[in-house]
Order: sequence, then C-alpha cells, then structure tokens
Amino acid sequence: MKQVKVESIFFVYDDVKGIPLDVQQLMQKASTARNNAYAPYSKFHVGAAILLDNNEVVTGSNQENASYPSGLCAERTAIYYAGAKYPDAKILKMVIIAGSTKNTTTKPIPPCGACRQAIAEYEIKQESPIEIYFMGEAGKVVKSNSLANLLPLLFDKSVL
Ligand code: THU
Repeated sequence: MKQVKVESIFFVYDDVKGIPLDVQQLMQKASTARNNAYAPYSKFHVGAAILLDNNEVVTGSNQENASYPSGLCAERTAIYYAGAKYPDAKILKMVIIAGSTKNTTTKPIPPCGACRQAIAEYEIKQESPIEIYFMGEAGKVVKSNSLANLLPLLFDKSVL
C-alpha cells in the first residue's frame, strides 16, 4: 500500500483590490444574474458569469422547482447555455456569487460537486483550463486556476 497525496492550490483575495478588471466586471454580471435566481424553497441565491474567448459573457442563476431535484444550480444553467449558444467558444473564466437571503454570506461559496463535474466536461473538451472565482455576497474571493484543481480524481471520458 502506498499513500498518494493530492494537492490543490487556491488564491485568496481579501477584497476586490488586486482582482483583474475583467474579473471585477464578471463579478458585477454574476451579481446581477443572481438577482434573477428563482429560489423560493432554499432562499439561497446564486449567480454565475462566464467569459468566453469570443468576448461574450454568459450568465445564469439557480432555478428551483417544487419537485426539488428538477431544479438546477446557477453554474450549470450558465455553462449549459454557453455550450448551447457558443459551442465552439472556449470558456476562459467563471465567477460565482452565492448567499442566502436569510443572512449576509461573507464566506466564499464553492461550486457543488455536480457543478464541478459539469464544468470539468467543458475544461476537458476545450483542452485548456477554466479559471474559477467564487465568493459570498461580500468578503474574500477565492480563485482556482482550473476546474481540475477543484475536483481531484475526476470521472472523465478516458474510462468509458
Ligand atoms: N446552488 C447553486 O446554484 N450552485 C451551487 O454550486 C450549490 C447550490 C443552488 C441550488 C439550490 O437552488 C440552492 O443553491 C440551495 O442548494
């Protein structure tokens, strides 16, 4: 038996200072998208904004359903829309802003496992990393240089 260590590296910004301007603009767009979250059940509102290499920005928000599992997270709403509308564009960056309407979330909220798996598919397809930034409504912003960094030992087409 041998032990294998998997390492992930994250970059933490204490505030918006130092965050690249294009990412700050994406943060604005993710925040605006979050206003369109439909989350009457969880009251947890999430917005995502994606920058493509054709300079288009695609946004999404979580959309819930009375049949709970039929709802969809903001990240997948956005990335599936990007894939549907701009199938040949590469995804450069994704910004995610999340928080409950019941209190102010100042903790960076990372994407759920299912969204990581969905984003991984596009990162593998395009053969280039997707930068992921995630945050609460305020406070620190966390950056991952790739999705793979967020999902060690991911399931991909190589095993099919
Ligand atoms: N949610 C997202 O939109 N993204 C995530 O990565 C985690 C969770 C949504 C799904 C649901 O509408 C609400 O947040 C509570 O789980």
